[in-house]
Amino acid sequence: MRLLIVGTLEGHITAAGQIAMQRGAKVSHVPDVDGGMRILREGQGADLVMVDVRQSVARLVKQMKQERINTPVVACGVQSDPDTAVAAIKAGAKEYIPLPPDAELIAAVLAAVAEEDNSVIFSDPIMAGTLKLADQIAPSDASVLVTGESGTGKEVLARYLHGKSRRANEKFVSVNCAAIPDNLLESELFGHEKGAFTGAVARRIGKFEEANGGTLLLDEISEMDIRLQAKLLRAIQEREIDRLGGSQPVKVDIRLIATSNRDLEKHVADGNFREDLYFRLNVFNLQIPALRQRPGDIKVLAEHFAKKYNEANGLAPRKLNAEAIARLESHHWRGNVRELENTMHRAVLLANGPEISIEAIMLTGEGMAPAAPPMPPITARPEPSGQPASAPPAQAPAQPAQAAAASGAAVDETGGKLVGKTVAAVERGLIIDTLSHCLGNRTHAANILGISIRTLRNKLKQYGDEGYQVPAPGEVDRASV
Ligand SMILES: Nc1ncnc2c1ncn2[C@@H]1O[C@H](COP(=O)(O)OP(=O)(O)OP(=O)(O)O)[C@@H](O)[C@H]1O
Ligand SMILES: [Mg+2]
Repeated sequence: MRLLIVGTLEGHITAAGQIAMQRGAKVSHVPDVDGGMRILREGQGADLVMVDVRQSVARLVKQMKQERINTPVVACGVQSDPDTAVAAIKAGAKEYIPLPPDAELIAAVLAAVAEEDNSVIFSDPIMAGTLKLADQIAPSDASVLVTGESGTGKEVLARYLHGKSRRANEKFVSVNCAAIPDNLLESELFGHEKGAFTGAVARRIGKFEEANGGTLLLDEISEMDIRLQAKLLRAIQEREIDRLGGSQPVKVDIRLIATSNRDLEKHVADGNFREDLYFRLNVFNLQIPALRQRPGDIKVLAEHFAKKYNEANGLAPRKLNAEAIARLESHHWRGNVRELENTMHRAVLLANGPEISIEAIMLTGEGMAPAAPPMPPITARPEPSGQPASAPPAQAPAQPAQAAAASGAAVDETGGKLVGKTVAAVERGLIIDTLSHCLGNRTHAANILGISIRTLRNKLKQYGDEGYQVPAPGEVDRASV
C-alpha cells in the first residue's frame, strides 16, 4: 500500500503519515497538486492519495481523470469545516477524513483500498500447490523465503501469508532492502538513539520494532550489504535488536518473510550472502513459478485485471474474446504477472468495442505505444549477469528496433540517430534516462531495464566515476513525513 499525501494536512501530516505507516503503508509526501501529479505520472505510483482540502481537490481529480490515473483520492481537513468537506466530495474526493486524524478511520480507509491487493488470483494446479503449502506454513512463526522471478507476485504472497497467520490483526511492515542505500538501511531496520551519529537529533524506532507482534517483510534481501547481514542474523537468532548508538538490546517478536528474485544459493556460493543467514531465512521456501510455467493462471488473471481496470476507469464491463485470450496464453511473459497487469490495463483503455479483442492486446516487443511503461528502445541491451537462470534467451528484439529496421534507420526514443554512437554510450544514455524516469529509484529502473540491481549499481558507480551525472536515489518511495 502506497500512500501519497498532497499538502501539509493543516499541520497534521506527521500524525497521519505515522498512522498510515504503522498500518504498513509506504508514505510519500509532496507539497502541492503539481508535485502529486508528477509522482502519479512518473510511475512511482500510489494506491491512495490523501489531499489537504486547502489544495485544489477539484483540479487534482480533474487532472487525474484527464490523464486516466485512477487512484482513489480522499480529502482531509479540520473538523469544524463542513462546507469544505462537501465541496471536496463534490470535487470528486471519495471520502473526507476530518483532522486531527483518527487512527481507526485512517486504518479503515487504507484497508478498504488495500483489500483487493491481498487476493491471490490463480487457477493453475501448480499455483494451487504453492498456495496449499502457504496455507500450511502460514500459522507457524517460522521464517519464509519467497522466491520467484520479478513480477511473479512475491509481495502478494507475503501479504497472503501474513493474512493467514496468527498475526493477521497485527502489523505487516515491509522494507525494500534494495531501494534504501546501504548506509541508511541499518537505521531503517534497527532504529537509532539520539546522538548515534551527526544528525541523529532524536530517537528513531526501526522497522523491527515497528513490526513488533506482526510480520516483517524484508523485500529483495539479496541486495543487503554483507556487514548488515551479520546484524540481521543476530537479530533473528537472539530475537532482539540493537538500535544504533543504543546501550540496551530491545526484545522483538516478529515473523520474518524475505523475498528474492535472485538465486540466493548462488549468491551464497559467490560469497555475497551469508550461508548461516540463508539457512535462518529459508526455513520454508515458497517458490513462485514464472507465469509461463503456470499457463492456467493467464486467463483468470487477465480477466481479473480487465475487470479491475474496467471498473477503475468507469467503463462498462467487457469480456476478453477467445482470440485475445489465446494470444495472451501464447506470450512468454518475461515480466510475469506485472507485465500481464500492464498489458490488460492498456487493453482496457485501447479496446473500443463491446469486448476486448486482439487489437487491444499490445504485448511487450510488439509495437507498443510510447505512452506505455518505458521500453528499452534499442538493440544495445546490456546482457544482465544476474538474470534468473530460467529467463529465456533474449526474445524478439524490442519493438522500436524492429520499427527502425523497417524504416531503415535505427533511432532512439527522442528521435536521435543511434548509428554512429558506441554501444557503451547508448547503454549509458538508456540507463541514466530510465533511472531519471524512475525518479532515481534503482529497483524500478533495474526491473525496467531487465538487469539486476547490482549490475545497475556497478554501472552507475562507473558513470559517476567517469564524471557523468547520475540521478540520486529517489526518496519518494520512502516515508518523507
Ligand atoms: N496471483 C496474483 N493475483 C493477483 N495479482 C497478482 C498476483 N500476482 C501478482 N499480482 C500483481 O502483479 C504485480 C506484481 O506483484 P508483486 O509486486 O507481488 O511481484 P514481485 O514478485 O514482488 O515483483 P518484484 O520482484 O518486481 O518485486 C502486483 O501489482 C500484484 O498485485
Ligand atoms: Mg516485490
